[in-house]
Amino acid sequence: MEDRCVRCFVAIDVSEEVRLSIGRAIEKVKGLSKDVRWVPPDHVHLTLKFLGEADNAGVLQIQERLSLLCSRHFPFTLTAGGAGGFPNLRRPNVLWVGIDESEPLSLLNRDLEESMAELGFGREEKRFSPHLTVGRVKGTDGLKAVVREWIIFKDTVFGTITVGETLLMKSTLKPGGAEYSKIAGFKLGQYKTEA
Ligand code: 2AM
Repeated sequence: MEDRCVRCFVAIDVSEEVRLSIGRAIEKVKGLSKDVRWVPPDHVHLTLKFLGEADNAGVLQIQERLSLLCSRHFPFTLTAGGAGGFPNLRRPNVLWVGIDESEPLSLLNRDLEESMAELGFGREEKRFSPHLTVGRVKGTDGLKAVVREWIIFKDTVFGTITVGETLLMKSTLKPGGAEYSKIAGFKLGQYKTEA
């Protein structure tokens, strides 16, 4: 195998229910601005940890660790609800849909941070704030109108997600935005599944 670095991250996939309701929300606001790059609903994911560049050996090590740590956690359910912006809705860089507080998710995230730190990946400095990025703000044109409409979803429940596995994902940077593909999936409470 050629030794090439890949840009990778660990994520949880969302359910079809959540994908569809996020798609409907985006449809309602996307005509208001050309300065927000909306995430295609098929690409929406919950990032557990962004790892950055890893070579072939690194990817194999990551997979071994993920396999082991996922075997220690069991499937759980999340609720996707609420909408907001980072850093805030007055000057958002990112528009998101929230993920409700979940102890199994926090424990999984903590375990992942530990395992990846042992492989030399830096620990996340900011507190884990689970969210689904749905839009990236590129400018201010029409942004106020988008935010006015986006706030309307602040109490909306978008659906539930049954989390049965984590995914090691590859991100390829393209001019039109990053493209994602699955490297491998790791079942919770079991061992590695094929890509
Ligand atoms: P987020 O937008 O969902 O918060 C893949 O690039 C994912 O990794 C993105 O969806 C992004 O999560 C997350 N990420 C976290 N830190 C990143 C960084 N420094 N560069 C790129 N992506 C990062």
